[in-house]
Amino acid sequence: MSGKTIRLDRLLANLGYGSRREILLLARAGRIRLDNEILHDVEQRLTLDPALASRLSVHGEELDPLPGVVLMMNKPLGVTCSRKESGPLVFSLLPERWRRRDPAISTVGRLDKDTSGLLLLTDDGALLHRIISPRLSTPKTYRATLDRPLRGDEAPIFAAGTLMLEGEDKPLLPARMEVLDERAALLTLREGRYHQVRRMFAAVGNHVTALHRISIGALALPSDLAPGEFALLDAAGISRIFAPEAT
Ligand code: URA
Repeated sequence: MSGKTIRLDRLLANLGYGSRREILLLARAGRIRLDNEILHDVEQRLTLDPALASRLSVHGEELDPLPGVVLMMNKPLGVTCSRKESGPLVFSLLPERWRRRDPAISTVGRLDKDTSGLLLLTDDGALLHRIISPRLSTPKTYRATLDRPLRGDEAPIFAAGTLMLEGEDKPLLPARMEVLDERAALLTLREGRYHQVRRMFAAVGNHVTALHRISIGALALPSDLAPGEFALLDAAGISRIFAPEAT
């Protein structure tokens, strides 16, 4: 990011503060400051370095995060990641202005409407593709609550790399299952097929009654992040996504 410059009006418009015309009016009204000095010239170019967000203020408030944001959210039940499903979108949990950003903030993969837990969001397309790349196969761990007691043979069936889901022609990659109690298990997947966890348990005669994602790579959902809340990830947090999981 460092070294790249951008016009003030373009930066603020891309961050959702308004149209270029509205930014011009904000500047004329003295509402934009850099290091506490009022900025009048919206054509002024600013260097996009990480310190800029804390130096620039609009309406007396620190600037929103610069492009290149990565968020972790504790996705609550009942919100959807895709407009194809009915119900409120996860984006409705973000500040209103953040929903007008360009580049837009997208979810990194999806969780079903009735799945909760760790969801990543970013406006960084290259990072998004890296996380979901089948080549890297970032592990994702889910806690599944089940309708019936486990039979005892599920872990080796899931680990075999031969399980075929209904309607598919390619077996699943090996997945790791750890029993928590007779009706709950942790399942770690290295791929993300449609409704995969629910369909895997259905394939062994069970039914998932609750599903919660607890980690992606070595990044675990913090226990103090309440459902519906989100937090910005710093470079160390982002690198945990790609680090081997703690076993
Ligand atoms: N597997 C599912 O069945 N649902 C999800 O949301 C994620 C994984």
